[in-house]
Amino acid sequence: MKIILAVLTSLLLLGGCQSPAPSAAAGEDTLYNALGERSGIADIVEDMLYRIVEDPRLADDFRGIDVARFHRQLTDQLCHLSGGPCTYTGRSMEEAHAGMNVTEAQFNAVADHLVLAMETHSVPTGAQNRLLARLVPLHDRIVGH
Ligand code: HEM
Repeated sequence: MKIILAVLTSLLLLGGCQSPAPSAAAGEDTLYNALGERSGIADIVEDMLYRIVEDPRLADDFRGIDVARFHRQLTDQLCHLSGGPCTYTGRSMEEAHAGMNVTEAQFNAVADHLVLAMETHSVPTGAQNRLLARLVPLHDRIVGH
């Protein structure tokens, strides 16, 4: 876990170098497949949500949100980012997190819960790291707004 977070941190520093996520071709061995396709991603997001609401660093911000919407939007976003056939229809990251003043520590906490959820669902480490790398470009749109 520490290694994964260290990788994430160094990727954050290199954030500008990321290329856009490729889109999936039928039958291709994509990150989307490694995550268990949309249903696997939905399970990972559900697991992540349970961890988030029990985390004192995050719980206050998530209190009272529309959980079903959050689950659907984050699932579609991760599905799309992993190369799956999903369209993200939610708000921009700036809009969704406006006024929350999300901190670096909170961003890392969410990434941490994502990793733990992927571990629980037996996602291989390489695939975990590839998904984390695709979240790096979102960092500056989420933290500090
Ligand atoms: C990798 C990091 C993150 C990603 C990919 C992410 C993604 C998302 C997405 C897709 C939504 C739904 C937007 C919509 O419904 O239109 C959302 C909402 C939300 N996010 Fe994040 N987020 C991240 C980090 C964080 C962090 C660190 C916090 C800490 C406070 C946070 C707090 C929230 C809250 C409270 C909402 C619900 C807002 C509302 O419904 O009014 N997020 N996020």
